[in-house]
Amino acid sequence: VREPDLAGRHVVVSAGGTREPLDPVRFLGNRSSGKQGYALARTAAARGARVTLIAANTGLPDPAGVDVVRVGTAVQLREAVLKATPDADAVVMAAAVADFRPAAYATGKIKKKDGQEPEPIVLVRNPDILAEISADRPRPGQIVVGFAAETDDVLANGRAKLERKGCDLLVVNEVGERRTFGSEENEAVVLGADGSETAVPHGPKEALAETVWDLVTRRLP
Ligand code: C5P
Repeated sequence: VREPDLAGRHVVVSAGGTREPLDPVRFLGNRSSGKQGYALARTAAARGARVTLIAANTGLPDPAGVDVVRVGTAVQLREAVLKATPDADAVVMAAAVADFRPAAYATGKIKKKDGQEPEPIVLVRNPDILAEISADRPRPGQIVVGFAAETDDVLANGRAKLERKGCDLLVVNEVGERRTFGSEENEAVVLGADGSETAVPHGPKEALAETVWDLVTRRLP
């Protein structure tokens, strides 16, 4: 049995993927299952933390002993994160947040019209929640962790993203078949703002989650 090294700590984890509605029946979404975020929530609870899990469109059952807040869109996810983080020791943004949302929402279902081409979908930027909380920590000493899925130049792109976002740790996944989305397993490199680089070999999402909490625990004041 592991030491309860997160006892007395409050951690916030986001999981899943946002859905940005176009009309009452359609949305722009992504393939995130939420499994990595749920593994982070379960392992933190097992290590003694009070856990707030902000779940975006996941079909997974609520983990025992975890406060679950369900959200749909990036704007709702931001509201939930800002509400949960003022007293948080650590924030882990495992959710896949849509960078853009449709500029307009049609209150009725968008219909095809005979002989007419469809209207283009205009997008606007969503707020970057990770960059926002990294720049403006709701609590001094709070540790902020981001995730990044990259397809090429994984380490160089990860390092640039870590700096751009201003977080303490960035978990970089190489995206490919068999890996990451919807899978039970993951493989990643965790980059630290202090220059550290921790490779996590291919294995269960729980193992990556434990490594993230090890790295967070070491950085907590
Ligand atoms: O920029 P990119 O989407 O690759 O960054 C991924 C990381 O940033 C994830 O931790 C994700 O939760 C977070 N993110 C965010 N708000 C956005 C987009 C991404 O917090 N609008």
